[in-house]
Amino acid sequence: MNEFLQLAMDTAAEAATIVRAGAEAPKKIEYKGDVDLVTDTDKRSEAAIVARIRQMFPDHAIVAEEGSEGAPRGAKYCWYIDPLDGTTNFAHGYPCFAVSIALQENDVPIVGVVVNPMSGETFSAAKGEGARLNGKPIRVSSTPKLATSLVSTGFPTHLLKQRSRNIEYYWGFTLRSHGVRRDGSAALDLCTVACGRFEGFWEFGLNSWDTAAGMVIIQEAGGKVTDLNGEPYRPGGHDILASNGLVHDEMRELAAEINKKAAAQRSE
Ligand code: IPD
Ligand code: CA
Ligand code: CA
Repeated sequence: MNEFLQLAMDTAAEAATIVRAGAEAPKKIEYKGDVDLVTDTDKRSEAAIVARIRQMFPDHAIVAEEGSEGAPRGAKYCWYIDPLDGTTNFAHGYPCFAVSIALQENDVPIVGVVVNPMSGETFSAAKGEGARLNGKPIRVSSTPKLATSLVSTGFPTHLLKQRSRNIEYYWGFTLRSHGVRRDGSAALDLCTVACGRFEGFWEFGLNSWDTAAGMVIIQEAGGKVTDLNGEPYRPGGHDILASNGLVHDEMRELAAEINKKAAAQRSE
């Protein structure tokens, strides 16, 4: 295994132990802004991850959700860390949350690891080396049509007060598929596409630490990741569309159709 993937796996496993212990203990919940939650476990998990990476690679940059940093941005290697993706679920005891760690080389995601501490599932990938779930190779599903697909999305808490098109997408995709799930962890949503349980996923307003790991895992599992217009996606971009590749165009076309309908209704 390459040394970067090994470090990401070991580090994510340590953080997952912290998160699992936090899930079973009383929680200290704070608010970041009006609706965004953060707990002491988010911070403890991040501290453990960052300490290991800084020790091994002091010259690597670090972008972590709770604010830790490493070498200055612009370094060849940059780690994207979500120490607890799905904090709202965590705070409510809904067992759908994860640790997500990715490494980019010159802005290209090359390693991704996502661990669900409650289910014991570890998704991992390194560029050119395939994607795995608990060590076994995974592939996206071979479902060719949106009509027989299960898809997912999310509604970022920091955007809840802004008018979002996503509720129209939610309704539109619900009518044209087997259903839309909203599980509350973007990192796990992406991995769920990678292992073939969902055919597709889209969301607006995600950050680099939410998507960088899942992106490389889907790509290595044979899937496709773009923005909703079909243009290249970069972690932290305005919107993301991820799929098994086969239903990608149908999803993109449906998104465009929903936009058009919404614009027409607004001008009525
Ligand atoms: C959130 C989750 C959620 C998504 C939000 C993210 P957090 O991450 O990934 O599924 O809808 O946009 O912010 O805040 O729990 O790490
Ligand atoms: Ca997140
Ligand atoms: Ca988080």
